[in-house]
Amino acid sequence: MSEAVTRPGAGSGEETQPGSGSSGFPPGFDPTAEATEKTLCFHGFWAWLVLLILVVICTAVIMWLLRKCIQGPAYRKANRIDGKVVIVTGCNTGIGKETVLELAKRGARIYMACRDAGRCEAARLEIMDRSHNQQLFNRTLDLGSLQSVRNFVERFKAEETKLDLLINNAGVMACPRTLTADGYEQQLGVNHLGHFLLTNLLLDRLKQSSPSRIVVVSSAAHLFGRINREDLMSEKSYGKFFGAYSQSKLANILFTRKLSTILKDTGVTVNCCHPGVVRTELNRHFSGPAWMKSVLQTGSLYFFKSPRAGAQTSLRLALDPGLDKTSGGYYSDCMRFPLVPWATNTDTADWLWRESERLVGLPPLEAPRNGNSANGNGSANGANGSGGAASGARDMQSVETVVVSRS
Ligand SMILES: NC(=O)c1ccc[n+]([C@@H]2O[C@H](COP(=O)([O-])OP(=O)(O)OC[C@H]3O[C@@H](n4cnc5c(N)ncnc54)[C@H](OP(=O)(O)O)[C@@H]3O)[C@@H](O)[C@H]2O)c1
Repeated sequence: MSEAVTRPGAGSGEETQPGSGSSGFPPGFDPTAEATEKTLCFHGFWAWLVLLILVVICTAVIMWLLRKCIQGPAYRKANRIDGKVVIVTGCNTGIGKETVLELAKRGARIYMACRDAGRCEAARLEIMDRSHNQQLFNRTLDLGSLQSVRNFVERFKAEETKLDLLINNAGVMACPRTLTADGYEQQLGVNHLGHFLLTNLLLDRLKQSSPSRIVVVSSAAHLFGRINREDLMSEKSYGKFFGAYSQSKLANILFTRKLSTILKDTGVTVNCCHPGVVRTELNRHFSGPAWMKSVLQTGSLYFFKSPRAGAQTSLRLALDPGLDKTSGGYYSDCMRFPLVPWATNTDTADWLWRESERLVGLPPLEAPRNGNSANGNGSANGANGSGGAASGARDMQSVETVVVSRS
């Protein structure tokens, strides 16, 4: 630093000798450079701050957009369904509870069909409070017991002469292998067979109330599923998720498609859906290590749909006037999706229908085809001594007492 330095205010041309120290600065000190450096530092700080703020804003916007994408579209039509009679199964929590809340806000008269009366009552009181709709009823239905299904239907029919909307929502996922009260594998028993009997016993009311609708909550897990005709009840080999759960959710779709052909021209439509990956109690049987459970739970706060978002596809299928004549479809994110070949196989759907009739003790709807017994391939899948075909025949009497019109 050998240049001369002009002191501020020294405009007289008076020169200060370098190194003289008369400027008041120590030799070698350059206040201009110092000031420039300070200015640069100052600017640098603000530049970094602005950059940081921009990065934070961009990240927040991207995360917000991603979250919006994850939540999926919502059903936005404001149509009301005042006085329409609705049954929703498994609605004390999760997707079912949000579905009931929205239907209640739109004026429906709702039968909440739950297995735990205490939890159902808590949900009912909360929904009545939030929707200002008093037309909500707590009814016991354990889909893991065919007798409970019959009792529920019997009571419902004594109370109501019509049924406008049935939502088969309840489900159990990836539980350890257990049996229903009737001796069937739990996931197939609850997710498919219980709903199969319930729907069939309510068909007369639905037909009388046409136009009416059935909504079946299935899952994208059906993609991994196959209907195992040789081992429908997973007695030989049990896979919690990829086996039994996926099979039961595939059964929901095959049931929907077969039923849609049976209900053709009746004014009753039936569609099914995948609600998305939703933060609910469905993973209650998760058996991994505790740390993995807490990571999943934390991650699910952001990466999973909220139960309200998870209810939107069911709501569209239940409410959209534009779907009045649509039946047999599979929906996700409120949109219709094509199905994989094993979910549209009519031979499998027919077999499953006949086998389900036998297992729940309903008389066959259609005459058996040549070469096929009413028991499908004739195997005694899942029909153990205490609760299978034998009990099916026994149960005929009680089915008749519910006055079922299957014409
Ligand atoms: N959450 C997801 O990511 C997801 C993804 C695809 C499909 N699904 C489907 O969405 C539906 C709703 O599940 P969710 O996620 O809302 O699960 P959730 O929070 O566990 O709710 C399931 C409901 O089903 C009821 N339920 C279970 N077993 C029953 C039985 N034997 N009888 C009567 N009700 C029974 C439960 O009652 P309790 O409370 O008494 O057990 C509960 O009310 C299910 O069919 C599920 O397969 C969910």
